[in-house]
Amino acid sequence: MKKLIEKAKNTHSLSREELVSLLTDTTCSDELFAAADDVRRQYVGDEIHLRALIEFSNFCKNNCCYCGLRRDNKNIERYRIDEDTIFLLAEHAARNMGLKTIVLQSGKDMFFTQEKLCNIIRKIKTLDVALTLSIGEKTLEEYKAYKAAGADRFLLRIETTDKDLYLRHDPGMSFENRVQCIKNLGLAGLEIGSGVLVGLPGQKIESYADDILFFKAINADMIGIGPFIPHPDTPLKDAAGGTLETALKVMALTRLLLPDINIPATTAMETLAPNGQTKALQAGANVIMPNVTLTQYRKHYELYPGKSSTNYTSDESLRQVREKIASIGRTVSQAKGFHIRKPLA
Ligand code: 5AD
Repeated sequence: MKKLIEKAKNTHSLSREELVSLLTDTTCSDELFAAADDVRRQYVGDEIHLRALIEFSNFCKNNCCYCGLRRDNKNIERYRIDEDTIFLLAEHAARNMGLKTIVLQSGKDMFFTQEKLCNIIRKIKTLDVALTLSIGEKTLEEYKAYKAAGADRFLLRIETTDKDLYLRHDPGMSFENRVQCIKNLGLAGLEIGSGVLVGLPGQKIESYADDILFFKAINADMIGIGPFIPHPDTPLKDAAGGTLETALKVMALTRLLLPDINIPATTAMETLAPNGQTKALQAGANVIMPNVTLTQYRKHYELYPGKSSTNYTSDESLRQVREKIASIGRTVSQAKGFHIRKPLA
């Protein structure tokens, strides 16, 4: 195992079989995390990029079996934040909190048309920030329109590259279309963000290996990996859920194979353990996304239960994040944090 970790560290390339061996092994996690931490330091340095997350609508026309925002969940109160308030939240994040990237996230909400979104994008871009969208599958033309309005990046997780599993857990959706949408982000000139869930019922070790190879194949700029956490109002309520350990291993291997990309320490990791994000920052991650949504709405953006930061104000969330970063001797970046491609050493 040690040899394989060395190989990954030096060549940033592993076969599917080698990935499966490392993912199966239970004795070498600490070595794997240390190697990912070294590669992270070498390629993207000690600075952590903060992205202000605005969850602006929890309406969703999709019905993913793992997600609390799914269409059939009648137990959540649906909300939309209006355009002016979205701008005020972005302005507070940029001017008062000093954050350099605004992330606009929602369910697949048809209310926010291309025109509405482009207006919001243009307004937020006057704040001298980078802008990321995370609003689901759209057409190539729409992605191009967001880019033309000023959007820089887009997050669209593949969720799992195991097609059968995808179709089972995302009823009514097309796996091919999802892959095409991710490719279209690049064609539209947006930075490509993707990622997967770890620990879905039926998800296999081999499929994590495929996930990591997929991230390489799509030339991802950022990859978010989170453990699946069962939500009581979904069909997967009785599932076991993912573990922090496996999610961290998939993340660490992603860092080893895609050394210069941006990798968030995800909120789902923090939800599973109070030091989950800190561990992630020491196992390959270099990004944190503090939540700046109005506190009154946060509890309704319940992708999964116990979502960390739900009860805090934006300023409190940011303070906690800064403390976490300082406690491990890292610093907060003042840059917008674009993906800078480096020659592989
Ligand atoms: N547990 C963890 N993550 C989840 N997501 C959705 N539902 C859950 C859950 N139950 C993730 C998906 C989606 C992102 C916004 O939230 O991966 O892409």
